[in-house]
Amino acid sequence: MQIPFFDYKQQLKPLKPEINKVINSVLDSGQLILGNEVRKFENNFAKFINTKYGIGVNSGTDAIKIAMVALDIKNGDEVITVANTAIPTISAIREIGAMPKFVDIKNDFTIDENKIEKVITKKTRVILSVHLYGQPCNMSVIIKIAKKHNLKILEDCAQSHGAQLKNKKVGSFGDISCFSFYPTKNLGAYGDAGIILTSNKKLFDKCKMLRTYGMKNTYYSHIEGYNSRMDEIQAGILNIKLKHLKKWNNNRRQIAEYYLNNIKNSKIILPKIKDINNHIFHLFVVRTNQRKKFTKYLLKHKIRYGIHYQFPIHLQTAYKFLNYKKGNLPITEKFSKQIVSLPIFPELTKTEIQYIVNTINNF
Ligand SMILES: Cc1ncc(COP(=O)(O)O)c(C=O)c1O
Repeated sequence: MQIPFFDYKQQLKPLKPEINKVINSVLDSGQLILGNEVRKFENNFAKFINTKYGIGVNSGTDAIKIAMVALDIKNGDEVITVANTAIPTISAIREIGAMPKFVDIKNDFTIDENKIEKVITKKTRVILSVHLYGQPCNMSVIIKIAKKHNLKILEDCAQSHGAQLKNKKVGSFGDISCFSFYPTKNLGAYGDAGIILTSNKKLFDKCKMLRTYGMKNTYYSHIEGYNSRMDEIQAGILNIKLKHLKKWNNNRRQIAEYYLNNIKNSKIILPKIKDINNHIFHLFVVRTNQRKKFTKYLLKHKIRYGIHYQFPIHLQTAYKFLNYKKGNLPITEKFSKQIVSLPIFPELTKTEIQYIVNTINNF
């Protein structure tokens, strides 16, 4: 048995006729950029998360950058976030010259909300909460802290399409939120795409201008902007795939539940799940003190794995100038040496899941 870590082709197979149809219809429409499919997807996705507005952009990274510019974050302003995230969370902050201020994580892999206030300074403008692996951060506490210190909240939901807290989806808690539709995501395009969501009309208007050179309708820039548009073909594909997202998230949840109940090996530490119904399991991340041996063993048994993320961002060469040192974020650093992401995608079969569990239990 060969188990891939991610395989978009299995999911594509049954959808292909519908997807081919939408691609052809876009090509025949005469409108390739910012047309009906993008508008439809912006509305559909905003409705799914329950915000008033959506702005389709080129990627999740651009979504974060544009959302921060819309929030008026400027060169030298400080953004509170985590170092256990995908690099783009940080590169988006740096693109506008803002400074990431890292907070350590808890054993559920999300930001330790009790350590946020310690890093707030006069320059802090925003808390950028990353709902990592598909598990929501503790938003009620984060909202309280933001209110107390007059900070904005930007949610990085690149890994949490449909994750929720008390029936409210992440992406609807902050002032503004950002999603990625990179192909591996729970809702993935067949290329790059992202979206910004907000219920604030001013932010919506500003983001819309920012994604097209700061223009409204004519070739006139009201503010300095960018080129970051979601294209019609990707939007058409996402409109089709969005209809299946709930089912796919449920499939992932069932696989996670099976892993949680059946992986029994003292060398493998299962992830801490706050509420399985709120989590959408973009990744299922276990920990082990024998990672090298374990990953070699997985490969020997033809099970592909991932590591998200092996190198904490505050210790990477590119970010040396931020002046963080080994030991500054002890849990982030410890976990980065232990974590292994197991295969979890909706099309995994029962036989494959059982094989993965049995293999792990025999390690
Ligand atoms: C947590 C997180 N933030 C941001 C991004 C950036 O998204 P994109 O790859 O669409 O630019 C990703 C995905 O790569 C991500 O996982």
